[in-house]
Amino acid sequence: MITLRKIALFSLSILLVACQSAPKHAVVTHQQAVASAHPMATVAGLEILNAGGNAFDAAVAVSATLAVVEPYSSGIGGGGFWLLHRASDNTTVMVDGREVAPLKASRDMYLKKNGEVDPKASIDGPRAAGIPGEPAALDYIARHYGKLSLAASLTPAIRAARAGFRVTPHYRQMATFRRDVLRRSPAAAASFLQDNEVPQLGYTITQPELAATLQAMADKGRDGFYRGEVADKLIQGVQQAGGIWTHKDLHDYQIRLRTPQVIHYRGNTITTAALPSSGGIVMAEMFNMLSQWDWQGMSTLQRRHYEIEVMRRAYRDRALYLGDPDKVNVPVTRLTSMAYAQKLSADIQPDKATPSSELPGISEQPGGNHTTHFSIIDKDGNRVSATLSVNYPFGSCFVPPGTGVLLNDEMDDFSAKPGTPNAYGLVGAEANAIAPGKRMLSSMSPTFVENKDRLAIIGTPGGSRIITMVFEGILAFIDGKNAHAIVAQARFHHQYLPDVVQFEPGAFSAELQEDLQFMGYNLRELDGPYGNMQLVILDKRTQAVTAASDPRVEGAAQVE
Ligand code: GLY
Repeated sequence: MITLRKIALFSLSILLVACQSAPKHAVVTHQQAVASAHPMATVAGLEILNAGGNAFDAAVAVSATLAVVEPYSSGIGGGGFWLLHRASDNTTVMVDGREVAPLKASRDMYLKKNGEVDPKASIDGPRAAGIPGEPAALDYIARHYGKLSLAASLTPAIRAARAGFRVTPHYRQMATFRRDVLRRSPAAAASFLQDNEVPQLGYTITQPELAATLQAMADKGRDGFYRGEVADKLIQGVQQAGGIWTHKDLHDYQIRLRTPQVIHYRGNTITTAALPSSGGIVMAEMFNMLSQWDWQGMSTLQRRHYEIEVMRRAYRDRALYLGDPDKVNVPVTRLTSMAYAQKLSADIQPDKATPSSELPGISEQPGGNHTTHFSIIDKDGNRVSATLSVNYPFGSCFVPPGTGVLLNDEMDDFSAKPGTPNAYGLVGAEANAIAPGKRMLSSMSPTFVENKDRLAIIGTPGGSRIITMVFEGILAFIDGKNAHAIVAQARFHHQYLPDVVQFEPGAFSAELQEDLQFMGYNLRELDGPYGNMQLVILDKRTQAVTAASDPRVEGAAQVE
């Protein structure tokens, strides 16, 4: 039977929350580390650090190299969020390089004549692509935060695009999933397939046209992408294939600097993504609700129960309220307040699941199911946590001829038809409806966590499951686990609707499954693992740095 010391602990948590403040001391380390989803990207980051660059220069190198060697996850045809902490002035900012809807986009552009959503229209081909943000973000980071030039930090990526990278089992898995759509774009097939088939293991993928586009960025900064010859080819290719991009879309693209979402949870400061990522608000709601109970003092069953119930409630709000903060009014202060969390969690029963049907509201389609993340610390204590995406594996699978740029299909992260179930039987919200120039809601959640003893740089890909993965990773960090244990731990997820707890094989013991089912949970064991977490931890007591890359995939973490 579940026992909770809820009332006594509730009073204690109020006291703890009132006493917390952001860590003020500069962090000292004599080590540097990079954890990323591909060994070549990790090596690129270290190469730039060892050439005199700082963590921000390394972030440019890792982002651009991932664009080359992990084309199914992110790229200069996509976007992302770079959370930057600069040690010299103890400031943290989120560079929002999220894609925007083209100016010719319209609310109903993915509806068929009968008013139904055409599910493929927002996923495959150039009409699915938002205006890329990554080139502008890399240019901004190099100019405002780096010690080296953009050209210097792009060098490893240009080299990798020219010399190529070897096809791995993971590459083959991704290419198999998207082969038929890649075949529809001759330039994409030429880059990513071998004689129009999924390449053999060990085959070398070279991308000379992408190398030339990266070189144009190295020579001219953001203008190398958004203006001139590359821009002409992008627009021509998109329009000839039925897309709606114009030169004005490219000229007008701007990154945004966002104030990160800061969450105080029982002596820990969590600094994470702001809107247009839903991650920060959803995590703030979850941690605020959880702070009312002594999570660390609970049994495993109690922990899972309360974690799932706070996920359920926070994901409901994601669907109802969140969208591009430049275009819609989102009640961020109210949603992230402790008073709201207390109200939201008032109906959580200590020993019973709350059916989602008993909570008023709607749900949101899951975000894309690929994406990438990397974490970096340098010897000065500068830190980067970055999550980047082209959305689905290989994005839209469309490459405008002559550019080597694989375009994203991030338009699918909008709600194609607010208020009506989408292709997955889920419903999106008005706040995330399509509008020209608007940023689509994201789940990407690059994060820093800090307490008096340790500091973590954490994140992962994984669509709508990103936020619960990071949440579970932070809880494991708070629980004192080491980097390898955190990235390896088995995962579970609930997103309000469908009212199901998904879990990786091994996440719940047979006994735990029985207990959760007895409490009213619908459980679904997944066929395989998900996520690709990249983590760096600094122990402030010893100044030792550790790093770990998710053992589920093929990344690499290195400390020097
Ligand atoms: N496309 C994945 C995300 O932004 O959540």
